[in-house]
Amino acid sequence: MSAQPFKFQRPELANGYCEALQGTGILDARSGLFLAAPRRTGKSTFLREDLLPVLEHRGWTTVYVDLWSNKATDPAVLIANEVKNTLAKFAGIITKLAKSAGLEKVNVFGALSLNLSSLSLPENVTLADALEALVVAADTPVVVVIDEAQHAISTPAGMDAMFALKAARDRMNQGADAHRLFLVFTGSNQDKLSRLVLKKDQPFYGCRITKFPLLDRRFSDNFTDFINTKLAPDNQFTKEDVFAAFKLVGHRPEMLRNIIADLALDGGARTLAEQLKAGAAAFRERIWGAMESEFAALTAIQRAVLERMLQQGAQYSPFTEASLKAYTALAGQEVTVPDVQGALNALRQKNLVWQAAYGDYALEDESMVLWYQNRLAANAS
Ligand SMILES: Nc1ncnc2c1ncn2[C@@H]1O[C@H](COP(=O)(O)OP(=O)(O)OP(=O)(O)O)[C@@H](O)[C@H]1O
Ligand SMILES: [Mg+2]
Repeated sequence: MSAQPFKFQRPELANGYCEALQGTGILDARSGLFLAAPRRTGKSTFLREDLLPVLEHRGWTTVYVDLWSNKATDPAVLIANEVKNTLAKFAGIITKLAKSAGLEKVNVFGALSLNLSSLSLPENVTLADALEALVVAADTPVVVVIDEAQHAISTPAGMDAMFALKAARDRMNQGADAHRLFLVFTGSNQDKLSRLVLKKDQPFYGCRITKFPLLDRRFSDNFTDFINTKLAPDNQFTKEDVFAAFKLVGHRPEMLRNIIADLALDGGARTLAEQLKAGAAAFRERIWGAMESEFAALTAIQRAVLERMLQQGAQYSPFTEASLKAYTALAGQEVTVPDVQGALNALRQKNLVWQAAYGDYALEDESMVLWYQNRLAANAS
């Protein structure tokens, strides 16, 4: 039996992202990798447990900042301090560089070398300068990973920090040995994260946001094996049941763990598998109760647009004749193209709908389909 908490890793995903950062993979994220996924689906865990180790294994220097770690501190300060922390690891080299004349950035190194024990950057050194100094001192690619990056848009200084990251990226990544500063951003709100990339006056204009994949069946299978080692042989979960429960909770590990723990504590020894289903159903009520009230709070047109999307799945196309007719029938009022556009924007802001590149729309949380089917069945009976 393992004494470690259960941990499922996705090194292949992490390696794929490394290639994307270098521009050698299917995905090209040389300008920045933007990952978004719903709350509590394992973004931070992936960054900490999978991505950072893989980056470090490659010999790259990493700077990890969680902008939600301290909501009282300005995101810009959090980023600068973490860069400073990492710079401190190269104290010896920085002191040497400060002395070597002729270097373009000798002033920056001078200021940094005098201030190595302080937590923050020296006054006359900008974040972009500090990042460049880090790339030079480390003499490896540097990867800045910002968790909950959408938080940076909440303050002007945070936004400036994003511009500084971009400026440093552009300066470092031109020239022969290109691409030595890589940027990774994650967020749980696509709409907010988009505000870094969508418009010309936003720092990462032109970058696209990638959907971070949810944990899948491999996760629930591994978890089933892990749990079963702790249970009697006549008291085992099946992988089917656990996966069914995992889907119901929107692929959220914590919720799955809670269900399983509740069942184990209830001690329904031989009926555990049966209880899992019952537990999932009870749990489903709890999550679906929240979905139901969220749905009820929408306007008639927003509801109609969401319902059409739920019905059509991957076939959904927002502005076709057929869709407009369907909205009108569902909403019980004439629905026009601008109405639909407005509703889609509102649904995105509420984290219900995901807008992919090229104007494709999808559900933010796939488990909503199960809720909807259940709702239709309930209404029919
Ligand atoms: N790969 C994994 N293996 C085991 N447990 C996991 C894994 N990924 C996530 N979890 C668990 O799921 C929960 C949520 O994970 P995490 O905090 O990484 O998600 P998040 O998407 O960053 O959430 P938030 O939206 O709150 O930032 C945690 O309890 C974590 O332990
Ligand atoms: Mg997180």
